[in-house]
Parts: sequence; structure tokens; C-alpha cells
Amino acid sequence: MTWEDLDWKILDRLRQGFLSGAAAEGPYWQSTEDLAQYDFTFAERIGWKWDHVLRELRQRGWVPPTGPLLDWGCGSGIANRRAVAAWPEAVTEVSLFDHSLLAQDYAANRLREATPDLPVRSWERGSKIATVVISHVVNELDADAAEDLQATISAAEAVIWLEPGTSDVAGDLVAWRERLRPDFNVIYPCPHQAACGMLAPENARHWCHHFASPPGEVGADSHWVKFGQRAGIDLRSLPYSALVLQRKTDPPNTPPESGCGRIIGRPKVSKPFTRVLACDENAVQTLELPKRLAPALIKKLDRPSAPRRLRWTYQNGIVTQLSDPNSNG
Ligand SMILES: C[S@@+](CC[C@H](N)C(=O)[O-])C[C@H]1O[C@@H](n2cnc3c(N)ncnc32)[C@H](O)[C@@H]1O
Repeated sequence: MTWEDLDWKILDRLRQGFLSGAAAEGPYWQSTEDLAQYDFTFAERIGWKWDHVLRELRQRGWVPPTGPLLDWGCGSGIANRRAVAAWPEAVTEVSLFDHSLLAQDYAANRLREATPDLPVRSWERGSKIATVVISHVVNELDADAAEDLQATISAAEAVIWLEPGTSDVAGDLVAWRERLRPDFNVIYPCPHQAACGMLAPENARHWCHHFASPPGEVGADSHWVKFGQRAGIDLRSLPYSALVLQRKTDPPNTPPESGCGRIIGRPKVSKPFTRVLACDENAVQTLELPKRLAPALIKKLDRPSAPRRLRWTYQNGIVTQLSDPNSNG
């Protein structure tokens, strides 16, 4: 497919279904063309969010357990293709599940094109799963489907889950985190394994969301610019929520590195300091980062490409020491 093939009748119908909530009423893919149109545009944008999360996981040296990967609610399959590309050695086969068979077939064909040697199957309930990837599905689930998903996750060793960055959906993911926390270590975005600090009453107006950025060339690509304008989407702003989990083992596997914090949402940069919503094992709270502490780092913190996982100490809401655990400096 090329930009000349865009079909706005299809794209408008799909987007309207996502925005209005009608997508939760049952399968909505009407043809393979629907999936091709979605894959070329909306799914590509979702892929940029996957890139953001997978980049940090890879930087930190996290690798999903070796074995079969399941893409639950696969749609056109962007999530499994991004995961396979990130960890080709860890994924031994891919299963696809969607309540639309059109979607399952489309995703299988796209994956076979991308990685012809990787076995692709439809999913057999109860089969062993190393990693389940879930993407932009949660607000389409009724109670039965949520239960089905819960049972699926219970059979997996790891979960990589991305959703839009709206307050409702981010709140749903926090609820899933709390339900799954007894059995899983939280790898991303949380810098700790305790109860989510967002649940404190004083944080009711906040939600756990993060920002990715599109590849550099997108801003200068007239096709994407026109697409964003026509679809009414700001392509520079890619808010998402996420949850990456790895099953606890007995004896315990190495827990994720502690002692870090994470910046939530967008930092507010002003002259003397940058103000951030900061999450660590103590709380979710507002912290001020005086510029002089680490001028180069603090100046660039409002860029989506800036590190969001940082090491800090603070007193009375003011950060006194700050470093980037992924930088050699
Ligand atoms: C917005 S699309 C996202 C597709 C893909 N995961 C992505 O990130 O591009 C949601 C997908 O979830 C599927 N879906 C919704 N409810 C489902 C359910 N109860 N069981 C299986 N698939 C479901 C839809 O058919 C659709 O393909």
C-alpha cells in the first residue's frame, strides 16, 4: 500500500468507531482493505509507541523469556512485529488471537512477509506462552473478554502491554497492575514493586501516562503531515500508558533494578527549575529539579527522547542529586 491508496471512507469509519466506543460492540474489520488501511496509518503510529518502550527495555538489558509469543487482540499485528524485531532470538514462534478472523489472517500474512522462517500459528487456548503482547485493546473488552484475558495472562511468563495515554485507560492499567502484582514483577514503567502511588487520594487528578515521539523524518514528510491534519491527530504528541510484567519465580529471579524513579507525563520546564510528576517507591509527587544540578540533562527533559527513568535524592520536594542510570557520564 502507498499514500496514494489511502481510503478516507475506511479510515474515518474506523477512527469514528474507536472514538465513539462503538469498537467495543463486536468485530468491526469489514475487509482485508480495512486492516491494510489501519496498518499503514493508525497502527504505524502505535508502532512508534512500541519503539519507545522497547528501546528502554533493550537499553536496560531486559529480554523477554525465550519461547512462544502471543499477540492478544492482534488487529493488523503491529505489536508482535515490533516485539519480534526487537528480540528475534527470544521469540521461537508467534500465535495470533483476535475475535476477528480477518485480523488474525492479515496479521499472520504480514508477519510471514517480515520473518518467513518464524512459525506463525493461531492460538490454542491453554498452550504454553512465554510472552503475551497486548496493544490498544482494553477499552474494547466486556467483562467476559477481560476474564478471558486475565486467564491468558495467568498462563504467560511475561506481559508487554501498551494502551492510549488517556486517564481512563491508564487507570484501567493500574487496576490490572494491582491485580497481577502478587504473581509478577513490574518491569515498566514502575521503578518499584510496591502498590501504585497513583492510587493515593491526593493523586486523583493525575494518571500514569508517558510520551513517545515519531521518528525524526515524520515531521518533514508531507504525507504524514497531511494525514495528521486530515485525521485531526497531532503526530508529535504520542501519549501512551504501559505495563510490562515478568512472572516471579521460586527461588526469586533477580528483581528489576531498584533505587530509580520515573518522570510521569510531561515535565514543566521554567528558568530556575524543571517541575516533574515523579514516581518512586516512596510516592507519586511533584518534585522540583533546580537547573544547576545537572544543566545539560534538566534542560532537555521536556523532549520525548529524554530519559524518563532517573536516579534522584530529594528533600522537601527539591531534588538534591540527579543522574541518568543509562548514561556513562
Ligand atoms: C484498536 S485494535 C488494536 C489492534 C492492535 N493490537 C494494535 O495495537 O494495532 C483492537 C483489536 O482488538 C480486537 N478485540 C477487541 N475485543 C476483543 C476480544 N474480546 N477478543 C479478541 N480480540 C478483541 C479487535 O478486533 C481489534 O483487532
